[in-house]
Amino acid sequence: MRHDREHKSVAAYLCGYISHMPARLDLLQSVTGLILALFIAAHLLFEASILISKDAMYSVTKMFEGYYFFGEVYPGIISFLAAAIFVIFILHAMTAMRKFPSSYRQYRLFISHMHNIQHNDTTLWFYQAVTGFMMFFLGSVHLYMMMTMPSQIGPYASADRIYSDWMWPLYLLLLISVILHAAIGLYRLALKWGFFEGKAQAKKIKQRRKLMKKLMLISIFVYMSISLMSLGTYMMIGYEHADHAGERYQPAQLEILPEQKQQQEQVPQPDKGMQQ
Ligand code: HEM
Repeated sequence: MRHDREHKSVAAYLCGYISHMPARLDLLQSVTGLILALFIAAHLLFEASILISKDAMYSVTKMFEGYYFFGEVYPGIISFLAAAIFVIFILHAMTAMRKFPSSYRQYRLFISHMHNIQHNDTTLWFYQAVTGFMMFFLGSVHLYMMMTMPSQIGPYASADRIYSDWMWPLYLLLLISVILHAAIGLYRLALKWGFFEGKAQAKKIKQRRKLMKKLMLISIFVYMSISLMSLGTYMMIGYEHADHAGERYQPAQLEILPEQKQQQEQVPQPDKGMQQ
């Protein structure tokens, strides 16, 4: 009884000195990571609209510019969205950075530890650190461009940027790193917070972990295939359009924006119509 009381008072004493900050930072890292992973999952599918047709990608761009809600385009919406994602991206990077090895000695220790224990999830953490580091640079360039050039998005504008402006190597590296990072991140998040474990028995928990790993691998395969095909399609469009780089896309069947219609009526140049 006395021992119990002493134990409690030691715990209370320690609690006064234990900082809650690391736990809060961990939570912030998880929440920002979850938002970014969901954003990327949707973003890569919207990008893949180019696989359907140029008009489909054009419509998606117009939707994000607010045309179907306000009847006019507001590229500022894209800048705002990109700025918001940038803030979340920076918060996520800041909270994740604390866990990176901070010296060559720590790095060597981690590598030898990883080789010694041959534990899959520890190796996955290493992939997370490497792809996260790559995204610091690649993601920042892309986000900054989207923020400052929101009206330069569309079937031709994007394809010209990717092919004629040589953005494809950056997108290829970003594509690989972001898909691995997001899929591994979601898997580790589920493990960390025990989303699928509940009060299940050890055997069931093991089965569910296996299932989550399978889902992670499938999503990497599916997203990698779709996104590589999209990038290839943008490159082909950019290649075919290289001689007219800078000219914007004019939708074939879609409804034409009122201001564009006016322009077309004044200047009868069908290929200089609705710009994208
Ligand atoms: C609101 C913020 C964002 C906007 C508006 C945006 C928009 C776009 C657009 C329009 C493209 C097509 C290429 C181009 O026009 O240059 C693209 C491609 C891409 N974006 Fe983003 N993006 C955003 C955030 C991000 C973030 C945070 C990441 C990852 C860190 C990312 C990763 C990619 C990748 C990998 C591609 C190439 C996709 C492919 O070719 O299949 N984007 N993005």
